[in-house]
Amino acid sequence: MTPELFKDPAYRIDAHELEVASGTRTYVVAPVLSRRADSDLVRSPAAKLEEAVGLAAAIDLNVVGSAVVTLAEIRPSTYIGKGKVDEIKAIVEDEQVTLVLMDCALSPVQQRNLEKAWGAKVIDRTGLILEIFGRRARTREGTLQVELAHLNYQKGRLVRSWTHLERQRGGGGFLGGPGETQIESDRRLLQDRIVKLERELEQVKRTRALHRVSRRKVPYPIVALVGYTNAGKSTLFNRLTRAEVLAEDMLFATLDPTLRALKLPHGTKAILSDTVGFISELPTMLVAAFRATLEEVLEADVILHVRDISHGDTEAQASDVRSILESLGVEASAERAIIEVWNKVDLLDAPAREALLNPARRSGENRPVVISAVSGEGIDTLLDRVEATVAAGRLTLTIDVPPSDGAGLAWLYGNADVMARETDEEGVTRVTVRVAPERADQVRRRFGLTVVDMVEPDDVRRLG
Ligand code: GTP
Repeated sequence: MTPELFKDPAYRIDAHELEVASGTRTYVVAPVLSRRADSDLVRSPAAKLEEAVGLAAAIDLNVVGSAVVTLAEIRPSTYIGKGKVDEIKAIVEDEQVTLVLMDCALSPVQQRNLEKAWGAKVIDRTGLILEIFGRRARTREGTLQVELAHLNYQKGRLVRSWTHLERQRGGGGFLGGPGETQIESDRRLLQDRIVKLERELEQVKRTRALHRVSRRKVPYPIVALVGYTNAGKSTLFNRLTRAEVLAEDMLFATLDPTLRALKLPHGTKAILSDTVGFISELPTMLVAAFRATLEEVLEADVILHVRDISHGDTEAQASDVRSILESLGVEASAERAIIEVWNKVDLLDAPAREALLNPARRSGENRPVVISAVSGEGIDTLLDRVEATVAAGRLTLTIDVPPSDGAGLAWLYGNADVMARETDEEGVTRVTVRVAPERADQVRRRFGLTVVDMVEPDDVRRLG
């Protein structure tokens, strides 16, 4: 979680610290209700456990063991039954576990009782995801949203532990006393901090809208990676961009670190943007924080939806991603393409791979691209597809810039994607640029008759 928050005295009011250190010996428990009526897209218990272990690993916890616990009903005091609590206690002792991750939503009472029973720290799914978001939040808005979610989580815990205290002490008759005063003042402090954060967040949102406008001046198309946690986005991001930081594009030096230059095979440049991974059953209180981290996707020209195609729940995951994108108003359109990238094909055996490649061979704009971010298979096809897609909406212009117009050359670098340039003996520089249609008019106005050629988008489409 952000250190800033933990430094705030208003925050340090509960014995429950949510912060967990990397390398902590952790045991992961996925409780599954035996008679759970879910949607059609039920995740298997094993996959649920695997995801929880993956999330724990994502923040560098040292997972020493894990188990699915099936239960008929949730126990108010400890969530899982007494027998299971004892079983896990033995494991905690044998394995010197100091943190138990319960992949469910625990009440504060359950959390404390389990901690007492096991002599280890316990966090629930919301606490874990808050940790992940806290570590990954990169923008100011993302950080604030996560802090806010964290405080609301804490506030909910205080309220509930208060009710619990009240009940313990005989209900209605309990008024006043040190316990009440403490909790009341804690709540007030939290509330003050929440109000402050909300105000700051409003401010950040306003500036961000401005920021977005200015970023839009960047002459390159934006390609965004979205996908489920563990789908392989970061691996793909690094593979696609590791080669070079384009030295001539100082522009990129000023951008967010999650944005990198992407050079496509025929010379088109784009900006690649990575996002926080999707997580199934995202606790409601974290939705706003998650969306804040996803807002960048709204300005993308191409969205690459990265899927772990070897995962048993790949369909359920994809449908989660699609519905969140839809709810953000992100849909495929003339201005924005969404390409599915089926990753981890290297993990499939020959028949499964064949079955997958068949639909991928279909022609049509919506066919998926099958890749392995690890082995590199399919990456060239993916890059060609991305290039064809971004080029499809753009015009290519060739301009002869006279030697006297040094400023013109600089203007082109600042306002267009310069694909090639060559200077002849007379000092005339022939520059090939690619621009969005609305910018083509600007180029023509600026350079008039020295624009010697223009290729319409449909011709460029053939590139891919
Ligand atoms: P979050 O950051 O949690 O959203 O995950 P991510 O989507 O960025 O996934 P990441 O790139 O961290 O990859 C998750 C795991 O999958 C890592 O262990 C990768 O090495 C592995 N992985 C990624 N791509 C491939 C692939 O093509 N094949 C195989 N076998 N493993 C892959």
